[in-house]
Amino acid sequence: MSVVPSSVSSQESVSLRFPTGFVWGAATASFQIEGATTVDGRTDSIWDEFCRRPGAVANGDTGEPGADHYRRYQADVDLMTSLGLGAYRFSVAWPRVRPDGGAVNPAGLDFYDRLVDALLAAGISPWATLYHWDLPQALEEAGGWTSRDTAYRFADYVDSVVERLGDRVAGWLTLNEPWCSAFAGYASGRHAPGVASPTAAVSAVHHLLLAHGLGMERIRAHAPGTPAGITLNLFPVAAVSPADEDAARRVDGLQNRIFLDPVLRGAYPDDVLMDLAPYGLAGLVRDGDMATIGTPVDMLGVNYYRPLLVAAPLVSPDEPSEWVGVEGVRFLPSGLPRTELGWEVSPAGLTDLLLRLRDEYPRLPLYITENGAAYPDAVGPDGQVRDTDRLAYLDGHLRAAHAALRQGVDLRGYFCWSLLDNLEWAEGYAKRFGLVHVDFETQARTVKESARWYAGVIARNGLPAA
Ligand code: FCB
Repeated sequence: MSVVPSSVSSQESVSLRFPTGFVWGAATASFQIEGATTVDGRTDSIWDEFCRRPGAVANGDTGEPGADHYRRYQADVDLMTSLGLGAYRFSVAWPRVRPDGGAVNPAGLDFYDRLVDALLAAGISPWATLYHWDLPQALEEAGGWTSRDTAYRFADYVDSVVERLGDRVAGWLTLNEPWCSAFAGYASGRHAPGVASPTAAVSAVHHLLLAHGLGMERIRAHAPGTPAGITLNLFPVAAVSPADEDAARRVDGLQNRIFLDPVLRGAYPDDVLMDLAPYGLAGLVRDGDMATIGTPVDMLGVNYYRPLLVAAPLVSPDEPSEWVGVEGVRFLPSGLPRTELGWEVSPAGLTDLLLRLRDEYPRLPLYITENGAAYPDAVGPDGQVRDTDRLAYLDGHLRAAHAALRQGVDLRGYFCWSLLDNLEWAEGYAKRFGLVHVDFETQARTVKESARWYAGVIARNGLPAA
């Protein structure tokens, strides 16, 4: 049953209309929602192992039972129908499809086959991310992303997924946010696999990019006509003062351009190669790698949450840092309101980012593949979740996206993060990003006020008059 507010009628005051065919979606990721981590042949991912480490995840939360989506996927597709979603971005779990990174497990693929068919039956376009951080633990034990071989194992895994689902998936994304896999995973260790080595992180960058390129080739082989690309977490970066500009350049290099340039221009930026020379970036590149990594993409997935305001490092830190080559960098507040994760709310940053992509990487269709906010939502005594903060966040960011469209940005779609409350990685279950509230004890789902509002946006293909 639709949750579109009854006030939404066909032509009522729509202030900002989106282009016809604009894709309206919501996103999730396998490890964050599926649960069922030991069924149908699935083996451990690096996140299963990481969640068992004392203190690694807030509140001692573990990956099990997630939001039990593996068992409840049909009910969750029904929820998507009630919101009127046109598309759903999910990720495929590598350790279900190729347990321990080895042979294909048909039972693991069967789950995504059922999910894709359920989506299509509901008229929702399936968008699949092939890697949203759940590397098989067995591959980590063989070196993980610091090993070049992992990129070839990824290509084999992509082969098996696209061979099976390629006739029905509407959009393919190779990797989600390789920055997090490389730098949060291997430099600071605040994410799985929890390694703290700048050299390992830099080698993970190159092997992740190689995996992306090899994955693109396999997608092209099995699903030649389907749009494919990569999702990056991109940030507008500004310096506090002229004295901080070199630090801001390095942060921008390490966060944005180290991925954008190889994928879209087939080369690492010269300044990043220089910044990372002590960690051996150039030495990792073999003949043909950059051409593979630069395999043309059809679109770029942009995950946007917040901007970064950079101040130069004051002292060298004692703690492992994600900011390789700019350790001790400080990110200063701009005085904007913050979400529950402390992330500043800056819709203008989204417009700036999209305009920059239009200017520096032209003629590239863009999709916002994640955008959303954590707030401390609770189901009230009347059974409702009044998440007015999230509603305002989404409204502001959609207005910002529309401003970019008006300035000629080729923005084709928007996927809200997230459909469901879920395991927010090392932050545990307490940080809720969902349009739909999940009670992790009972698995009850409650559609939040923001979701009803979003359903109205989708139904109008536009925002209501402010
Ligand atoms: C992104 C991740 C996604 C989610 C959001 C809040 O970095 O891709 O899984 O955790 O942040």
